[in-house]
Amino acid sequence: MKVTVFGTGYVGLVQGAVLADVGHEVVCVDVDAAKVAALQAGQIPIHEPGLQPMVLANQAAGRLHFTTNAAQGVAHGELIFLAVGTPPDEDGSADLRHVLAVARTIAQHMAGPKVIVNKSTVPVGTADEVAATVRATLAGRGIDIAFEVVSNPEFLKAGAAVSDCMRPDRIIIGTTSAAAERQLRELYAPFNRNHDRMVVMDVRSAELTKYAANAMLATKISFINEMANLAELLGADVEAVRRGMGSDPRIGYSFIYPGAGYGGSCFPKDVKALIHTAQSTGFTPEVLLAVERRNNAQREVLGQRVIAHYGGSLRGKTIAVWGLAFKPETDDMREAPSRYLLQALWAAGARVRAHDPAAMAEALRIFGERADLTLCASPTEALEGADALVIVTEWKIFRAPDFNQMAQLLKNRMVFDGRNLYEPAIVARHGLGYWSVGRPAVATSA
Ligand SMILES: NC(=O)c1ccc[n+]([C@@H]2O[C@H](COP(=O)([O-])OP(=O)(O)OC[C@H]3O[C@@H](n4cnc5c(N)ncnc54)[C@H](O)[C@@H]3O)[C@@H](O)[C@H]2O)c1
Repeated sequence: MKVTVFGTGYVGLVQGAVLADVGHEVVCVDVDAAKVAALQAGQIPIHEPGLQPMVLANQAAGRLHFTTNAAQGVAHGELIFLAVGTPPDEDGSADLRHVLAVARTIAQHMAGPKVIVNKSTVPVGTADEVAATVRATLAGRGIDIAFEVVSNPEFLKAGAAVSDCMRPDRIIIGTTSAAAERQLRELYAPFNRNHDRMVVMDVRSAELTKYAANAMLATKISFINEMANLAELLGADVEAVRRGMGSDPRIGYSFIYPGAGYGGSCFPKDVKALIHTAQSTGFTPEVLLAVERRNNAQREVLGQRVIAHYGGSLRGKTIAVWGLAFKPETDDMREAPSRYLLQALWAAGARVRAHDPAAMAEALRIFGERADLTLCASPTEALEGADALVIVTEWKIFRAPDFNQMAQLLKNRMVFDGRNLYEPAIVARHGLGYWSVGRPAVATSA
């Protein structure tokens, strides 16, 4: 099928590549000319496992094209995907500027019927707004062309985006049009061979499903973080509690890892947007408000513990930080807990030596060159000359470090682990002090 994707970010680029990979003819349109030029030259602007070879192979096969030419994009696709950003507006609501701009662009150029498929995460009612925008723009051109607006929210996980799109848990389709449903069934048939993953519903329910799913996951994280704080106060070990809870199949093990709070481009903004949507109807979303409050507090905990350990000031101290991305296998630092940690460390007077396997360039872009930040080429280099280590992102490479070397390099021999990666007794045996989330602190036993 002929498909056009507006927006070549984490969602649009991956979805475009995956659709091309199963044989569809895909044109990706973006307003960012530098990004499009890079993609045309085979350079992938984001870190996603498996993405680069897939993009290159499908470009070479002539099934995947990148352009800034919206007219060309609109002419190409019978199905037109919206995968542009929906960042939070000042009041926390989702900013629909980009979504509605693409709606206008489509209507300015369309010459025949189109199915507009919205993959961006958007508040309930946005499909109606997109339809009204298209209709008004067509009316301005003095024409009337048939079109449908379908909601098809995206559930990929950053860091596993390609495999998630190749093997989706479910494909949510919001439409009451039998014709649009038929087209989407045909589009997604290659992903439905094992069993039917498509769940078809009305548009508003599809729009709400995306927010409900992300809010549920955020709730699990805030809940376990609340238990971690309690465990710390009560002298219990939240890791034991987590395993005990997770063994109940009604609860399950996933998404109940205590840590430094949720971040990334989705959970914080989606929880905020859903709160805004709820409040705009006059309804108070008690659970969501608490989830957000707990997370705002949790992402400060790590920094607070480090500062408290050194008596309230980090002046003259150098802190090694492992991990900058908001989670492993991505270079995305949007709302990353590391950003809150670094600000707290700097405010307390520390110098930081940081390493991340993928997000160093992004960190440099965000923070710029500064005297109190050294971006180090390896985890070991970050430890050199540091007093203590703080772990913020649970990259695989951090899971089995050389503790002997760590104990030699860290002047104060102290590890603050925001992801509970290690067995406290093992760390202590190597002569290191160890604080982790919701577990009894361990003094060195060496
Ligand atoms: N990142 C994720 O893990 C994820 C997962 C599920 C859903 N989502 C949702 O998908 C949407 C996109 O997220 P993302 O992370 O891919 O965003 P992103 O910021 O990485 O990419 C958005 C892209 O859209 C482009 N763009 C903006 N206006 C445009 C226009 N008028 N025409 C063409 N291109 C335009 C931008 O230049 C950019 O390249 C958001 O609503 C997000 O909430 C994201």
